[in-house]
Amino acid sequence: MKRGLYIHIPFCKQKCNYCDFASFAGQERMIDVYLQALGHEAALNKEIACQTLYVGGGTPSLLAVHQMERLAKIICKNFGPIPNFEESTFEANPESLTPAKIAALRNAGFNRISIGLQSFHNDELKTLGRVHTAEQFWQAYQAAIAGGFTNINVDLIAGLPGQTLGKFVNSLKKLLNLGPQHISVYGLQIEEGTPFFTQGLECDQVLMRRMLEETDKLLSIAGYHHYEISNYALPGYEAKHNILYWQNAEYVGLGCAAVSYRGGVRRQNTPVLKDYIFDMENGKTPVSFSEQLTGKAQVGESLMLAFRQLDGVCLSNEQRKLFGPEIERHVQNGLLTCVNKKVKLSAEGLYLANEVFRSFVAPFEDA
Ligand SMILES: C[S@@+](CC[C@H](N)C(=O)[O-])C[C@H]1O[C@@H](n2cnc3c(N)ncnc32)[C@H](O)[C@@H]1O
Ligand code: SF4
Repeated sequence: MKRGLYIHIPFCKQKCNYCDFASFAGQERMIDVYLQALGHEAALNKEIACQTLYVGGGTPSLLAVHQMERLAKIICKNFGPIPNFEESTFEANPESLTPAKIAALRNAGFNRISIGLQSFHNDELKTLGRVHTAEQFWQAYQAAIAGGFTNINVDLIAGLPGQTLGKFVNSLKKLLNLGPQHISVYGLQIEEGTPFFTQGLECDQVLMRRMLEETDKLLSIAGYHHYEISNYALPGYEAKHNILYWQNAEYVGLGCAAVSYRGGVRRQNTPVLKDYIFDMENGKTPVSFSEQLTGKAQVGESLMLAFRQLDGVCLSNEQRKLFGPEIERHVQNGLLTCVNKKVKLSAEGLYLANEVFRSFVAPFEDA
């Protein structure tokens, strides 16, 4: 089975109002020392064979050109040349993705870029607390193409505060005119601890569902393959790194708050930036949480991940034995369906996936 390498860059120019990812604003002065710490952690994991690479954040494009080059050297020294990865993605925000950085990424060997747009409407971007405009996205996108990237993902969010169906569809159509190879459309989640949560915002689930249904319709007409709940790709451009997660494959995670999964053990590094740097400078482990899933919990976890893929699951005897009644119940209530010996989320289940997934996570219903 293939293995992924994830590197977390936890720096952002400004914290968005909806985001609970491990990312910090106004800490740019820490980037150099953070890269040094990453170098130490990479050396501890040296030569673990990985076939896909994902540099995510935070905002990796906040790194200066020389910092990107330093990161590329760390990867190359410990895991081999970047062009040798089957897929190597670098996450970028529109305001910091300059032609010079795009050239540095191509020179380093990255073959995929993922840009967070979220909306094509400047008033919505402002509500989200984004620091870029739609025009800046357009420039960054064109620069990425001019710089030689032929595999680009763009993220959108549906269900923004005050967003109408018309405005969402307008963003989607503008994006379709650009024709990126991959599009991710997430329904807005109000996460605890974010400004949106504190403001008491609530999503209109009915309207969000209409937006996601419209997404499905428009993107399938445009030739995109809906292969995971939130992900669409032109044929052949499905995200190889992310697919490894959904296949419950192993991955090495480096950096503050990064998660690794190896030998059935999931470990998470400390989400406290200073602690991560201190631990790496002092030869201590940065791991702040670890768990080994076994038995029913492990089978449930892998089923939950697998059901995210629209293709569905060919159930093993063990999966049937441990979760047969739950799966049958969801087939009866119409959230799962059985097609060609594979069980998968139904059209209805796609929008109520969390209800299905609850059955595969402890505490189990029969416990
Ligand atoms: C790792 S995050 C951030 C990537 C990059 N820093 C950016 O902001 O574009 C990847 C994507 O997750 C989505 N996302 C983050 N928080 C979300 C939330 N609370 N609800 C829905 N989507 C969210 C956004 O579309 C975002 O682009
Ligand atoms: S959404 Fe992206 S840019 Fe905004 S705070 Fe989160 S990681 Fe940073």
